[in-house]
Amino acid sequence: MAREKPAVTPGSGPAAGEAGETDLISLEATAQRISEMLSAIGAIGADPAGGVSRLAYTEPERDAHRLAATWLTELGLRVREDPAGNTIADDPTGDDTTARIVLGSHLDSVPRGGNFDGVAGVVAAVEVVRGFQARGWRLSHPLRVVCLAGEEGARFGEPCIGSKAIAGLLPASALNELTDEHGVTLGQAMRNVGLDPAHLSEARWSSRDAAAFLELHVEQARILEDEGVPLGLVDAIAGSARMLLTVKGRADHSGGALMRDRGDALAAAAEIVLTVESAGRESANHGLRATVGRMAVEPNSLTTIPGLVRLAIDVRDVDTERLRAVATSLINAAGEICDRRGVVLDARVIADTSPAILPTWVRQVATDTCREMGLEYRVVTSGAGRDAQVMNHLAPAGLVLVPSRRGLSHVPDEWTSSVDIARGVSLMVEWVARLDQRMAQWEHVGG
Ligand code: GLV
Ligand code: MN
Ligand code: MN
Repeated sequence: MAREKPAVTPGSGPAAGEAGETDLISLEATAQRISEMLSAIGAIGADPAGGVSRLAYTEPERDAHRLAATWLTELGLRVREDPAGNTIADDPTGDDTTARIVLGSHLDSVPRGGNFDGVAGVVAAVEVVRGFQARGWRLSHPLRVVCLAGEEGARFGEPCIGSKAIAGLLPASALNELTDEHGVTLGQAMRNVGLDPAHLSEARWSSRDAAAFLELHVEQARILEDEGVPLGLVDAIAGSARMLLTVKGRADHSGGALMRDRGDALAAAAEIVLTVESAGRESANHGLRATVGRMAVEPNSLTTIPGLVRLAIDVRDVDTERLRAVATSLINAAGEICDRRGVVLDARVIADTSPAILPTWVRQVATDTCREMGLEYRVVTSGAGRDAQVMNHLAPAGLVLVPSRRGLSHVPDEWTSSVDIARGVSLMVEWVARLDQRMAQWEHVGG
């Protein structure tokens, strides 16, 4: 049963972290609201083939932002959209000169993906705000919630477009250079959904805007579930390098052309795929992941030798040097395969996102909090990319993961229990309160 008190204006209550206020909102009531918000967002972009398709800078993504904006407005926050399509909601009681503690994640998905990747972090942020309001806790660094646009690299190759715009890591040239598989540029996609990319640079925050960034995300791996641990506190987030390869062979009759005369683009691409997989399996590359997830074959006819193949390679690693070295070696290996087979390779790096080592002190505050609250946790490394790794360029970032059922993600079967997300919210409320106190003390000492 909820034992929620009427919302108290932030700033009028006791200082954050005072005892006796932690159970004002029950875990069950929070989980119930989380479950309702997840269902509401999940109806947007529900794909007839299963899962959700809310690709970056499409109407379903924008609809999800509009819905989240209504929740944030109902909580009394001041909500706006920036030129990169991020939805930004500020606690209006804070003054605009004080750096904020920012909470958030993304609302876009991969094609036929799950409804928890990103969304869990947005609904958690909403509940953290509600938690502070219900307790009437006062923060020196007022809260901001940000629903980040275009986190998934599935459409344009480039991940974390919204957070990169905020951190000043998205050059204006990306608007024309990044294209989706239909040739639509990022800039055009933004205009198609009513955004104005000509003002992209206005999306950039200064470091005075954010004192810290915290994100909750579903784990997208199975360590937490396998070990029966409800919370993962992240030490490092893998970076990614993405390459678009075009293999140009010679289309010809599949019955007429002799085997020795062929320039089969798909046979070359198949060898490239296996080379990519081997790089990921090599013991010297332990921890690295290498995938070909997208391939288009032309003319894709049963009786024609494939004349052209486009494939995308995604390499991930927490080790920047190794990530780039393996990406380079894969392009070289693909070149050799194509030379040997008498077909032509064109290779382009389309995205390159650095790994991030998250600040230890931010995580330490969370681990101390977990211990005091009796919450079990494990320190984990994130193999998937997150907005937190980009926001960490701007402000110290923290990332908490909650279990993914069977570790599955980017598929319709992706699922996380609302109670697990609610438990993450309980941690985040205390984490925010303690970070706020810690940073206020430092600022006081620093004058
Ligand atoms: C995000 O889910 C990613 O693809 O890393
Ligand atoms: Mn995500
Ligand atoms: Mn994802």
